Amino acid sequence: MRQACLFACKKDAMTPEEFRKAAHELVDWVADYREKVASLPVRSQVAPGQVAGALPVEAPNAPEPLEALVADLDKIVVPGLTHFQHPRNFAWFPANASLASVLGDIVAAGLGVVGLTWQSAPALTEVEQVVCGWTRRLCGLSDMWNGTILDGASTSCMVALLVARERATGGSQRRGGLQAEESPLTVYCSADAHACVTKAALLAGFGADNLRPVPVRRSSRAMDVVALASLMATDVAAGRRPVAVVATAGTTATTAFDPLADVCEAARRHGAFVHVDAALAGSAMLLPECRHLFDGIEGADSLCWNPHKWLGSVLETSLFYVKDPASLVSVMATDPSYLRSAVDGSVVQYRDWGLPLGRRFRALKLWFLLRLEGTEAIRARLRRDIANAQRLASLVGQAPGWEVLTPVPLQTVCVRHIPLGSSLTAEALDRHTLAWCETVNASGLAHLTPALLDDRWMVRISIGAEPTEWADVETLWELMQEKARALG
Ligand SMILES: Cc1ncc(COP(=O)(O)O)c(C=O)c1O
Repeated sequence: MRQACLFACKKDAMTPEEFRKAAHELVDWVADYREKVASLPVRSQVAPGQVAGALPVEAPNAPEPLEALVADLDKIVVPGLTHFQHPRNFAWFPANASLASVLGDIVAAGLGVVGLTWQSAPALTEVEQVVCGWTRRLCGLSDMWNGTILDGASTSCMVALLVARERATGGSQRRGGLQAEESPLTVYCSADAHACVTKAALLAGFGADNLRPVPVRRSSRAMDVVALASLMATDVAAGRRPVAVVATAGTTATTAFDPLADVCEAARRHGAFVHVDAALAGSAMLLPECRHLFDGIEGADSLCWNPHKWLGSVLETSLFYVKDPASLVSVMATDPSYLRSAVDGSVVQYRDWGLPLGRRFRALKLWFLLRLEGTEAIRARLRRDIANAQRLASLVGQAPGWEVLTPVPLQTVCVRHIPLGSSLTAEALDRHTLAWCETVNASGLAHLTPALLDDRWMVRISIGAEPTEWADVETLWELMQEKARALG
């Protein structure tokens, strides 16, 4: 029975020759998609359930031809997508899957290796070490930092808080865990921090009662460090222990930068761990003229940034750096007999730097990007986006009825339109904001994200898709004015 199954699987598996032909066709398909993406509606126009409803409930018994799959990609899948690679995608954040990086991803999948241990794929570990070293130097970070590639900033934050918890408790996980701690441990982040910080603090067992959102300064939206120090002092006086601060370099809504040097100093007074979440903005460290935004980062214990956002690496390339890998490993390490090898102790075992055991060859995506594009071209693209954001902010700022709400340190512009001569209530203004944003998005010509700022709606324009040029930003600006005027 088992023999028959093995035989059947072997017979049906795609041969390398069949793969070669199919892959050439699919690479053409991807290239065609990228060439035509600008002509597609940016936001998907399907209704919930439409994609699933167009597909059979049961998997096929017999093999299907590639043409059938490609037809479904064209007819069902592509219309069911919001196109992040579209030049007028200004929603959420840029998630540039540069084609150079796509090639690295193809190789990673094609090699099909598994990073369980150094021995299971030595090059997987060592290319990752080299690439993490390259990006560290490109960012001007000191050689105190040791990096790995995790799937996302949420995971990095979670891992950082686990390390902070264990450092503060002297390894409580090996005893009674947090439940045996005498005093509650407190965690701090800006009120504007990403939702992943709350999620990580809750999953790491700190409890919502011990997470302190620190107020931000009204003009800069940066964490108010006086308020941070005061919250920590109050917690200590009440018998709690401040153990971790997550500082954000480039908040999600407005790209505000917490003052890292001051945050680190305040944390140090209590021996608290500092993690810097620079998920989107970390790419700007490649630009010497932007490094001042990250002043003080060397005082942190861990940091994360996502080259899969603005830089151009395909998704699930999140760089996580720590100063003290030994404390990270002491929290994450496992040592089952089947993973041991003769080189243990003299090599890096990345499985001990995060949660998963089996790891993809993630570094290839970044390695290909950096080698095939070169860092100067990437820097030029980042500078183009920053210049486009400044230019847009200046146009919006001068236009009657329009407001730029927050500073524009990088590529995100936060705006609101107030109809001229109107005296709308705050609620009516919210409705107007959401309405004009929705009409822009429904047009399919551009895509924007509304977000709350001090509980009132505004619209974020996140510039930085790889193909976005000034003409695309200008088209968006004309569209915004037309739609807002029509409503207001
Ligand atoms: C500041 C910040 N942190 C964390 C995240 C979450 O990143 P990921 O999707 O990699 O978990 C985001 C995503 O937008 C972000 O902007």
